[in-house]
Amino acid sequence: MDFTISQFEYGQRPPVSLPSTEILEKLTEEGIRRMVSDHYDLLSRSEIRNLFPRIEEALDKAKQRSSDFFIQICGGHPYYNENRGKPMLAKRHSPFKITPEARIVWLKCYQQVLMKLDIPENLIQSFWNYLNVFSFWMVNTNEGRNLPK
Ligand code: HEM
Repeated sequence: MDFTISQFEYGQRPPVSLPSTEILEKLTEEGIRRMVSDHYDLLSRSEIRNLFPRIEEALDKAKQRSSDFFIQICGGHPYYNENRGKPMLAKRHSPFKITPEARIVWLKCYQQVLMKLDIPENLIQSFWNYLNVFSFWMVNTNEGRNLPK
């Protein structure tokens, strides 16, 4: 497995390839929801926990939106479009201060979750490649570190 975290120049939006649709076939919707939930639980305890909802119901909603999105881009039911409309994720992330360092923490939490999935390695790799590149699209500030001191 190659969990490389690529560095890009601030402001870049590198081209992204969607993850393999086989991920959804192997993991099922339930598996994707569990993966996203585990990721949010790690985020809630990470150095960037200040970015995420503290109240359980709000966190559950966030988990649902994010799972809806990943199911949709893995070729599944368009839950996200139905519930939220067009993703436009960079725009939706704009109220949050996301630094290059915060992206790295976010990705490291995903590494931990992906390592534990019981699906073929090439599928995990395909998902990682997507996250590695697309996560940079959400980076919207180069100022300061939004990690607690
Ligand atoms: C591949 C990269 C990413 C994807 C696909 C993604 C996906 C999403 C989605 C679907 C939402 C819900 C939007 C809505 O419907 O309101 C969301 C919210 C959010 N994301 Fe991301 N995100 C990514 C990267 C990041 C990164 C790198 C950070 C910060 C380090 C981040 C922080 C947040 C925050 C703070 C929210 C709002 C709170 C919440 O609802 O969880 N995201 N993200």
